[in-house]
Amino acid sequence: MGPRGRLILIEGLDRTGKSTQAELLACELGSNSVLLKFPDRTTPVGQLIDDYLKNRHNPLPDQAIHLLFSANRWEAARRIESALFAGKHVILDRYVYSGAAYSCAKNVPGMDMKWCLDPERGLIKPDFTIFFMNNGHESEQRAGFGDERYETVQFQDRVKHTFLELFETWENASYRENNMRFLNVANKSITEVALEVKQIAEKCIRQGQDEILRF
Ligand code: ADP
Ligand code: TYD
Ligand code: MG
Repeated sequence: MGPRGRLILIEGLDRTGKSTQAELLACELGSNSVLLKFPDRTTPVGQLIDDYLKNRHNPLPDQAIHLLFSANRWEAARRIESALFAGKHVILDRYVYSGAAYSCAKNVPGMDMKWCLDPERGLIKPDFTIFFMNNGHESEQRAGFGDERYETVQFQDRVKHTFLELFETWENASYRENNMRFLNVANKSITEVALEVKQIAEKCIRQGQDEILRF
C-alpha cells in the first residue's frame, strides 16, 4: 500500500476566496485529489442548511442548525477516510473551525465554544489548515456578499474574533505552529494566492505523516 493522502483545509471568512482557491488547488493536484465543500448542500441535510442560509423557512433554533452543520460533516467522514487511505489528497473548503466559529459568534446562552466543538469530536483533523484573512471590508465589496444569512460586516467581524479565539485558546500550540498557516490575502490577486497555497500544499504533501489526526 502506498502512502495515505493528505487532508488539506482552506478556512476563513465569507468571500475571501476560499472556494476559488480550493478549486484551483484540486485542479493543480489533479485526479489524485478530491474536493469537498462544507456545507455540502447536495445531501438532504445540506438542503436544510441551504434553506436556512437563504432564509427560506421558519428559522431553526441555533442549536438545531449547529448540529445539522456538524451532521453534514459526519455524513462525509467515511468518504474522507477512504479517500485518504486510497492515497488521494482531500481538499476541504471550510470544516470544523467554521462550524464552531460561526455558531459561537452568535453569543447564544449555553452555546459556548466547548458546546460547539463537542459534536465534532472524532472527525478527522486536517493535516494542514490554511486560514484566509483580509481586512473585512474587501469581502463586502465582492460579488454576492450580503445574499446569505451571516453576511453582514458586523457579524463577520465577530466571527473573525471568534476564529482567532478558537485557534488561540482551543487549538493546541503544536498544531498551530506545525500544521497551520494564516494567510493574509488582502490585495493579493487570485494567481498570487494560488501560488502560495500550492507551495504550502506541496510542503505538506512532501513532509508526509502516517498517523491520522482527530478532533
Ligand atoms: P469564498 O468561498 O471565500 O466565499 P470565493 O472564492 O467564492 O470566496 O470568492 C468570492 C468572490 O471574490 C468571487 O467573485 C471571486 O471570483 C472573487 N475573488 C476570489 N479571490 C479573489 C482575489 N484574490 N482578488 C479579487 N477577487 C477575488
Ligand atoms: P459557504 O457556502 O462556504 O460560504 P462562502 O463560500 O460564501 O464563504 O458557507 C455558507 C455559510 O455557512 C457561511 O456563512 C459560513 C456558514 N457555516 C456555518 O455557520 N457552520 C458551518 O459548519 C459551515 C461549514 C459553514
Ligand atoms: Mg465559498
